Amino acid sequence: MLTATVKDTVLLNEWHPVFIEKDLKEEPVSVIVLGERVAVFRAASGQVYALRDLCIHRGAMLSKGRVEGETLVCPYHGWKYDGSGACVCIPAQAKTDKIPLRAKATKYQAVEKYGLVWVCLGEPTSELPYLEEFENPEYRPLPCGPYAVHAAGTRVIENFTDFAHLMFVHGGLLGHPDYAELPDFKVYKEPGRVYTGDVPIFQPVAHSGSEMEEGTTYVYVKEVFRPLAARLSKRDAATGQTLWILLTVLPVEEKECLVYMSVSRNYGFEVPDEQFINFQDTVFEQDKWIIETQKPELLPLDLQLELNHKADSLSVAYRRWLIELGVTFGTT
Ligand code: FES
Ligand code: CO
Repeated sequence: MLTATVKDTVLLNEWHPVFIEKDLKEEPVSVIVLGERVAVFRAASGQVYALRDLCIHRGAMLSKGRVEGETLVCPYHGWKYDGSGACVCIPAQAKTDKIPLRAKATKYQAVEKYGLVWVCLGEPTSELPYLEEFENPEYRPLPCGPYAVHAAGTRVIENFTDFAHLMFVHGGLLGHPDYAELPDFKVYKEPGRVYTGDVPIFQPVAHSGSEMEEGTTYVYVKEVFRPLAARLSKRDAATGQTLWILLTVLPVEEKECLVYMSVSRNYGFEVPDEQFINFQDTVFEQDKWIIETQKPELLPLDLQLELNHKADSLSVAYRRWLIELGVTFGTT
């Protein structure tokens, strides 16, 4: 069932990441999707369910209750709801009394995939796509975040499409200002995604200013494959070592979001996972303060409003795609 407050049917029919799969244990959790409170719980069978976080009896939050078997028990008067949202027990009435037909919670679709729990408030228009880094056993995916950002999810995705900031916002970690010139690169559009060709970026080890700089050229490919989901691969051409980053945003409110990331690598298995997660935390922290202070807060789809440079061609393709899809939430 669609919510009354959000009119954006594209995002209502989208899968949104709401929780890290392995962290969803026996306690129900409360999440906000497009301004709607949603209770997510794992039943005793292991199945994950999502219900509107509102008891029809007196409006208590179901997520503050507990899981019992296959049901979620309201904390106020103990009404029990099953995964379909049907109320199956009202403790205050005799067992022989009928449960009123209206005693229901709105059920949302929920799936577990790629280390995350995903929820759709409407009717999903597509399945979650195949992502090689999760299916190919040569890669080791690690969930990172979620990172709370006081900004529109669209701004976060756009930041992820950006190459020219790597040397400045992440100087020393992902590039160096003295190597900021970008090669010409191609941007492609297919049904359901916009993406770049190879983008080689030189990253000096420690910048000394000498002519024969030591460092590595990484080949980036970036793509946006859903209005609020993107990924990149970063390949060391010499060794074939590849890092994938999946970034997917939960739109909490128009100017609030939670960012879920996953980092997958096919190398460095001897290096503790925490090191990769910590690195990602640092990099995202560097992006976050920029994103949170951009104006306008909502991503401008009027392409004349800001100044688009050729280095921004993936960002421009993303904005055009949002226009074509008709995404209104988080855009202006
Ligand atoms: Fe939920 Fe009464 S408010 S059982
Ligand atoms: Co960045």
